[in-house]
Amino acid sequence: MKNANTLDPRLTTSQPQVGISRAHESAALHVSGEAVYIDDMPEAQGTLHAALGLSPVAHGRLLGIDLDLLRAQPGVVAVFTAADLPGENNCGPLLHDDPILASDTLSYLGQPVFAIIAQDRELARRAAALARQVIRYEALPLVLTALQAHAADQYVLPPMHLSRGDAAAALAAAPQRFSGEWSVGGQEQFYLEGQISYALPQENKGLLIHCSTQHPSEMQQLVAHALGWGAHQVQVQCRRMGGGFGGKESQSALFACVAALAASRLRRPVKLRVDRDDDFLITGRRHGFDYRWDVGHDDEGRLLGIEIELISNAGHSADLSAPVMARALCHFDNAYWLPHVTMHGFCARTNTQSNTAFRGFGGPQGALAIEVILDTVARRLGLDPLLVRQRNFYRDEDGRNITPYGQQVEDNQIEPLTTALIERSDYARRRAEVAAFNASSPVLKKGLALTPLKFGISFNVVHLNQAGALVHVYTDGTVLVNHGGTEMGQGLNTKVAQVVAHELGIPFEQVRCSATDTQKVANTSATAASTGADLNGKAAQDAARKIRARLAPLAAELLGCSVEALVFNTGQVHARGSAGGQVLPFGKLVAEAYLRRIQLWSEGFYATPGLHWDRAKLQGKPFFYYAYGAAVTEVLVDSLSGESRVLRADVLHDVGQSLNPALDIGQVEGAFVQGQGWLTTEELVWHPVSGLLQTHAPSTYKIPTANDSPVDFRVALFDRPNGADSIHRSKAVGEPPLLLPFSVLLAIRDAVAACGPAGTEVSLRAPATAENVLRAITAINTPR
Ligand code: MTE
Ligand code: MOS
Repeated sequence: MKNANTLDPRLTTSQPQVGISRAHESAALHVSGEAVYIDDMPEAQGTLHAALGLSPVAHGRLLGIDLDLLRAQPGVVAVFTAADLPGENNCGPLLHDDPILASDTLSYLGQPVFAIIAQDRELARRAAALARQVIRYEALPLVLTALQAHAADQYVLPPMHLSRGDAAAALAAAPQRFSGEWSVGGQEQFYLEGQISYALPQENKGLLIHCSTQHPSEMQQLVAHALGWGAHQVQVQCRRMGGGFGGKESQSALFACVAALAASRLRRPVKLRVDRDDDFLITGRRHGFDYRWDVGHDDEGRLLGIEIELISNAGHSADLSAPVMARALCHFDNAYWLPHVTMHGFCARTNTQSNTAFRGFGGPQGALAIEVILDTVARRLGLDPLLVRQRNFYRDEDGRNITPYGQQVEDNQIEPLTTALIERSDYARRRAEVAAFNASSPVLKKGLALTPLKFGISFNVVHLNQAGALVHVYTDGTVLVNHGGTEMGQGLNTKVAQVVAHELGIPFEQVRCSATDTQKVANTSATAASTGADLNGKAAQDAARKIRARLAPLAAELLGCSVEALVFNTGQVHARGSAGGQVLPFGKLVAEAYLRRIQLWSEGFYATPGLHWDRAKLQGKPFFYYAYGAAVTEVLVDSLSGESRVLRADVLHDVGQSLNPALDIGQVEGAFVQGQGWLTTEELVWHPVSGLLQTHAPSTYKIPTANDSPVDFRVALFDRPNGADSIHRSKAVGEPPLLLPFSVLLAIRDAVAACGPAGTEVSLRAPATAENVLRAITAINTPR
């Protein structure tokens, strides 16, 4: 257990509440089913239900809708279209290119065109299902793949470029050079609680919206714009989400806006809960990426020059594609020094759902490319890919520690962390064992890979790195915390409550977190970019410190000691060195403070220091610090069926000085298996003619189950304080570990390589489904 005084010299809390494992604040409620999600809330009298009528065509001109037929359906109370919106018809977060309901153009199959409001959900859905019959359109030619769109210069945003040095000259001078193409698929967030909004009219033209969202403030703004109202008329609340994973950062807006439109027009409560299949068809997900690269390296595998195109499938609108691409470009380097590099990012406009945030936010798509490039370099040279990786690591020597975007890699943990993992995982011995196994096993092949990660923490947009909190101390000494972050299962509320308990020197159980609410903390940022605990933890700490500072003089007076001598210790205050002497229960102190009219609640604020970013040049210091990690994964591949199994995964992950090791290990394990799903079994298939997303349900879209997680799974935290002054020197943990399972994909590539002669190229793309693995094995054994 850590001594609180080593965490922060100003603290006088003797029993730390941070740095210790605690169950998730709602764990028991999750398990017992008592945790309230929006659809569990008792419905207000007169509640109506909404369902969306979806475009039956991937691209077309909207000619009309037979509204009379819809209005005549049983139970239908109203039908709304784009024309009914009093304000702006947009739910796009950055560009205003995302209609709430389609007006002239139908841009993808599944796009909401009208909203049915009915007596119950079943009747609303039944009427909405008539969409195919009532929507009149003229079909237009469609573009479904990013490469098709790229060939036609069809983008949602202007291309982005990031370069350092002279890649062309370095490529021309390199002793070895190759070019290649590669691709990785998208990924559905598959939050267990689907998109939902419940809007309740309030007096004097107000609305309360319960919305499953990572971004209540943006929901508030977009609803206000859609209704032509002021933000102060709209209250958005979210106690918890049943998962968000980025899918409820911007894309909860469409549902909030439709529920709000209906509730404000009908002056009745309106709930919109989307069916899973519709959720798949309406909302976007992780961007699939295509890559084209030209790589120059030396005979030892050192990268000399790279030119790369990254083409993302943005879908029909911009949504968050710009910052996703910016993060991809800023993570292409991953853990490696790239002396000469030129990157071009293209966000291709296609007639599909608009792709959006998903855990890692483009970072994984950027970093995966360099890992595949390094793997290719190693196989061309007949070297262990690990050796080639190590030769290219960022190092604190000869200027090899500056990223292509100009930020210095400070507090670099790549080398010590991987060295520790190589030892822990017994990499060298197992590499030899895998080779021996493969030599004697013609059908089953094993593969082994180590991949490292470096992930930048902060929003790439400087102003978003701010947060606020409210801490209320009641006269009985119990505490209520409210902050701008949202709880989606990651344990943010638990960590923030720990921080507050720690500051006030009270037991964790005495602190309760309340629902995120735009009427409590205003103008919040999305809970995203893994910054939830960093930002809101610091803001809550600030609030709690203010309260403690107000209580201190009174406590010192009551105890007859100096303020400096005070110790706040699990619910009691006493003078330092007076063990066994006079103690003042925290409850008694605050009761007395109330009588003396001392303010017992406070607001807190935090803005991450030292960030700057030139959005046009893609240069600056976008990240407060980096999180690091590495994984060694061993797989078994059946070369006749293409099936694969993760036999063992060893993970060492850097969360700085953990606020809560149990929660952090949970985040690492969850991200690992989620990323493993992205790279192995989860495949999105759009029908090439109609543009229908065919994999729109769990029957065809395969997320990993408990049974797919590594048979032998060894996760450890790399316990070192953050070099940056983060909350208690911890590091963000939400997204970075999603990059760990790169090692699964690269281990599968290793096993595929073992199916052919040494030095052959592996064509395996991601996801490495059984079909794709089999294709890659067939290619390796087919003489060209
Ligand atoms: N963990 C759970 N259980 N559920 C989620 O939806 N979202 C992830 C990650 N971990 C998510 C999760 C994503 S995309 C992000 S950005 C972070 O949590 C957000 O929370 P944090 O900033 O508090 O880490
Ligand atoms: Mo996470 S993708 O930043 O919501």
